Amino acid sequence: MSLAEFVVVANRLPVDRVPAADGEAGDSWRRSPGGLVTALEPVMRDADGAWVGWPGQADLEAEPFEFEGTHLVPVSLSAEEVENYYEGFSNDTIWPLYHDVISEPRYRRVWWDAYVAVNRRFAEAAASVSAEGATVWVQDYQLQLVPAMLRAARPDLTIGYFHHIPFPAYGLYSQLPWRRQVLEGLLGADVIGFQRVQDASNFARAVRRQLRIETKSSGIVVAEADGSTRTALAKAFPISIDASSYAELAARPDIRARAREIREGLGNPKKVFLGVDRLDYTKGIRHRLKAFGELLDDGRLTVQDATLVQVASPSRERVGAYMQLRDEIEQAVGRINGDHDTVGHTAIRYLHQTYPREEMVALFLAADVMLVTALRDGMNLVAKEYVASRSDNRGVLLLSEFAGAADELGSAIRINPHDIDGLKDAMMRAVEMPAAEQGRRMRALRRKVVENDIARWSESFLRALDGVRRAKEGTPQ
Ligand code: G6P
Repeated sequence: MSLAEFVVVANRLPVDRVPAADGEAGDSWRRSPGGLVTALEPVMRDADGAWVGWPGQADLEAEPFEFEGTHLVPVSLSAEEVENYYEGFSNDTIWPLYHDVISEPRYRRVWWDAYVAVNRRFAEAAASVSAEGATVWVQDYQLQLVPAMLRAARPDLTIGYFHHIPFPAYGLYSQLPWRRQVLEGLLGADVIGFQRVQDASNFARAVRRQLRIETKSSGIVVAEADGSTRTALAKAFPISIDASSYAELAARPDIRARAREIREGLGNPKKVFLGVDRLDYTKGIRHRLKAFGELLDDGRLTVQDATLVQVASPSRERVGAYMQLRDEIEQAVGRINGDHDTVGHTAIRYLHQTYPREEMVALFLAADVMLVTALRDGMNLVAKEYVASRSDNRGVLLLSEFAGAADELGSAIRINPHDIDGLKDAMMRAVEMPAAEQGRRMRALRRKVVENDIARWSESFLRALDGVRRAKEGTPQ
């Protein structure tokens, strides 16, 4: 393949491996659903782009290949690397630390060593497919060392990094035994994007305290090995969704019919609450179950009044904290249902499954109240998906103030998931909210989500990156 002018580097490729059906030869690839893929598709097409990433299974060796107009460059990981780099350092050290230690992070030196080695492999793969002067956009916490590694190998490149998860306060960040190396890794980028203003300022503070570097509003002056300096930009670029594709699905008659069928299948309760999350301890699923269970215990709701549908999609199932969480959630669901179900109605319909987007939109349309009770969340795109799907201007969004989405979605009912009484009252307020107030709030929410969609996010990040490139080249902006 020819060298690419635009390269995305992410832990995962935008495709999944599909095993061959019985009797057929050869596995194939299927596009994996996801906002990032949709957002970058036009840029990829115009710039003859390449995407470097892990194909999602251990020991899967694959040559670079073309997929729907994009060059895909697989980075293979051994089973041991999956254990140490992905499950270990990425998801049992960085993930819990950056989500305010909701679960205790584990600091293991062999995991760090694997993280360094695998980040180097991603950086090498990116360097080998990038044309002279190309733009490379690195994604997320699994690859924090890639920007500096890439810059060392290829100073001609313009490098962006986007951090999809929170960046913690300095008091927590400073626990990390490799705190300096990670900051130095990130500072290899020309633009370092965060979800919230707070994340960018936590990062700047860590840089000041650990590296003794001055920061001025969003600019950080970085000294290079050759004695020169450059200014990296660290600021917020809140991510979004492809809002119009949700609105289009929500208008489809078959999906609207499916939404009615879902309610019938639940025994037509007066109100349907919905939670949709990866099964992750950051999402506050237990807090939500507790609040709902207590409303039933107190008699403020009955199972004829309300059902909670909880979709909890399987995630990181070999990491201990996730196994434990699954046990806790399933025990809580079993208890609440055992106490309150009738033959015709269930309290909680729990679905440990992943669904296609059509079914998700039908669920959004079937839900009177969407519960987003995250204890800490970079953005929470489910909140935006619910809003984008409700072109009927009905439904109520309960949104945790600890989710990045709370910065933009001020017309949601804001909740603190740790305050169970407050959460219960907010759930009752949502159940009782008159249609006129639902409409007023939903219209305001929809304006935000439709205006700030995923295309706008990628454009504004890439514009900032281009600004830095022009400044370096001395080209007028
Ligand atoms: C979060 C992260 C992503 C990650 C996704 C799914 O949204 O920010 O980087 O891809 O979770 O997690 P997984 O471990 O399955 O890739």
